[in-house]
Amino acid sequence: MALGAHLCDLDDLDAQGITDVLDTAESMAEILARPIPRVPALRGRTVMLLFYEASTRTRHSFELACKALGADSLSLAAATSSVVKGESLIDTVRTARALGADAVVLRHPASGAARLAATLNLLPVINAGDGIHAHPTQALLDVFTVRRRFGRLAGLQLTIVGDILHSRVARSSALAFARMGVKVVLCGPPTVVPPEAGPALGARVCHDLTEALRGADVVMALRIQKERQDRGLLPSAAEYRALWGLDAGRLAAACPGAVLLHPGPVNRGVELAPELLDRPEAAVDSQVRAGVAVRMAVLYMLLEQGAGAA
Ligand code: CP
Repeated sequence: MALGAHLCDLDDLDAQGITDVLDTAESMAEILARPIPRVPALRGRTVMLLFYEASTRTRHSFELACKALGADSLSLAAATSSVVKGESLIDTVRTARALGADAVVLRHPASGAARLAATLNLLPVINAGDGIHAHPTQALLDVFTVRRRFGRLAGLQLTIVGDILHSRVARSSALAFARMGVKVVLCGPPTVVPPEAGPALGARVCHDLTEALRGADVVMALRIQKERQDRGLLPSAAEYRALWGLDAGRLAAACPGAVLLHPGPVNRGVELAPELLDRPEAAVDSQVRAGVAVRMAVLYMLLEQGAGAA
């Protein structure tokens, strides 16, 4: 499946569809490397950024992507909009369209919010993270980053460590990497890495960190969300660090040279030792940079290449 009218989930893309986005993102990265990183490809278009949750990377990389393509971006922060007066998501999307938006980028705490907004079919909807469901542009930038590092994807092993159950990043990235022929291993506390997550995501589940890391080419650490610890689903930060925290010794013993990914923001000293971020194997800043090129590609493909809705 190629990119259609919307990007709500990785289910919207097959391997060829992902490859098309990555190849377009390579062209966008070339534009971003120019002394003046601007093209008029989307001049006259307006993208509305509807963020019902906090974001640094996703929101600002979409803004930069709009600028680089010559589009206008308008930001709606839910906390200072008519959402606080009770305006529904559907009416907010209708209002964005009435204001002249050509596409909506939506981050929302409810799983399925992007799909709901897309059912209106008023304008293309790009999911910027919905609840614990999906974060497709994060997955695409992760795959883009790894393809650039290795020059290939098929045959690599990715180990994802953390709270898989509540991570939209883990769900989307596992699906995307598996679809591209990467062997995916999921690791973390059994309370948040259930056995059924493996088959659902095309992955293998392994709760033992050393075993899960063995032979990995790429390791992705996930942010440990404090609210999960409050609900007793996760051990304390100290216990988590002792059993599933990444450090130089553990990586060197099981997968020396493995590339390190993290979607951010990082809890330094919990899911990973801070010094790991300063090593050449760390690709965290590359992921952030890739986010601009990948989001340019998605905007361009939806709005200019005719994939977009009404
Ligand atoms: N990775 C990610 O979604 O980061 P932000 O929450 O800062 O956008």
